[in-house]
Amino acid sequence: MKSITVAKLLSQDKTLNEIEISGWVRTFRANRFIALNDGSTINNIQCVIDFENTEDSILKRITTGAAIKVKGELVESQGKGQNVEIQVDSIEILGDSDPETFPIQPKKHSLEFLRENAHLRTRTNTFSAVMRLRSALSFAIHKYFNDNGFYYMHAPIITGSDAEGAGEMFRVSALDTKNPPLTEDGHVDYSEDFFGKETNLTVSGQLEAETYAMSLGKVYTFGPTFRAENSNTSRHLAEFWMIEPEVAFMDLVGNMDLAEDFMKSIIQYVLDNNLEDLEFLEKRLMDEEKTKPQDQRSDMSLIEKLNFVVDNNFKRVSYTEAIDILRNSKPNKKKKFQYIIQDWGADLQSEHERFLVEKHFKCPVILFDYPATIKAFYMRLNEDGKTVRAMDILFPAIGEIVGGSQREERLDVLKEKMAALNIDEEELWWYLDLRKYGTAVHSGFGLGFERLVMFVTGMNNIRDVIPYPRTPQNAEF
Ligand code: 4AD
Ligand code: MG
Repeated sequence: MKSITVAKLLSQDKTLNEIEISGWVRTFRANRFIALNDGSTINNIQCVIDFENTEDSILKRITTGAAIKVKGELVESQGKGQNVEIQVDSIEILGDSDPETFPIQPKKHSLEFLRENAHLRTRTNTFSAVMRLRSALSFAIHKYFNDNGFYYMHAPIITGSDAEGAGEMFRVSALDTKNPPLTEDGHVDYSEDFFGKETNLTVSGQLEAETYAMSLGKVYTFGPTFRAENSNTSRHLAEFWMIEPEVAFMDLVGNMDLAEDFMKSIIQYVLDNNLEDLEFLEKRLMDEEKTKPQDQRSDMSLIEKLNFVVDNNFKRVSYTEAIDILRNSKPNKKKKFQYIIQDWGADLQSEHERFLVEKHFKCPVILFDYPATIKAFYMRLNEDGKTVRAMDILFPAIGEIVGGSQREERLDVLKEKMAALNIDEEELWWYLDLRKYGTAVHSGFGLGFERLVMFVTGMNNIRDVIPYPRTPQNAEF
């Protein structure tokens, strides 16, 4: 007996005897044709049963969602839409599925409904395709770094530092909640959180990755990160996965080159290896587009968009140039951006980012040299004394997908910046050590993994590209 996957069977061009395959029933028609899916591909294999010789008690139990095992022969298909099918010799019901209560019916369900059934939504084509692509992208990322001489570094999840200095942290506490230590004025003493230290879930593995870059040269992290921001948007999660490469002796231009090459390579990987799933999602999007007014429809299909990113240079523009472009442009007849951006130094809103990418440049954009006041403490100060060597990569339909910078390698400048922002030197003594012992130019960036999966799959809501989304409204599963 050969145990095999549906994907492998469908790619066969010869008949095979003694096939055995297990999966879940998608549909059962005419008491004869089972569409069986085992998760290995978007496509189902048709299993044809000899219903006259199959007991009624078995036929009744072949329902959508049931787990079954079939044995038989792989033969050329007589029907349309598939080359091969299984002529079933025997069928075993492994797990029943009550058709009255099984939530995933063979019809189109709304994404909202499926979000409420996150534990079953990968039984649908859309979510199984999205999650296979998520897995493939994750593999492509590790492959890219491995092929390019990077070491994979595991940054800690529980940490004492706030890498981004934005105060958006989830506290981690090992305190005895019934009998917590108290401060002199009677409040809970959180400085005792984690056996004598205040700790939180990491917002970024960057600072720890910097320590490794300054000895191993080229490293990256790929792990969960946490932000306690109460933002309920289609692009923010409280728990998301981030990829953070960090490289010694590399400046901002090298960082941009690396980020662009990296993004193109991983997108090329799924174009080469996951075309069936991409084609399915592309068709799904086309159907969705048809419901929109003509002027709001996208002029490129999903796969065209992915190829466009791979084939074209990202446009590199300084923050100052971007502000000038925005000031002089009219996103629509009535409103000018001038009205929104009063001063140089303001942070860009997502409507500004989307205008630059989707209307003005019509390609991915790398914005660099931001005002120091709107960026994190660790970014390298430019000679002008007011901008830092930061870069954000903006993608169509997504906005910011990557954030990174050249790091401040000069001890005195870093100390001055920390003092100005009230960051305690004692908290980051180890980070300052890097600038004391063998300091060097170094740079890195962070890619938000879910935003990448959104771009590649064309899904509009970040809740639909991670198995169990954590948002202020959603932590049920
Ligand atoms: O721009 P951010 O905050 O940068 C950092 O954390 C740096 N330490 C990275 C580095 O230089 N090593 O976050 C990086 C990326 C963003 O561009 C975005 O794609 C994603 O992480 N991101 C989020 N994704 C989902 N939900 C959130 N709440 C996110 N916050 C950031
Ligand atoms: Mg950012």
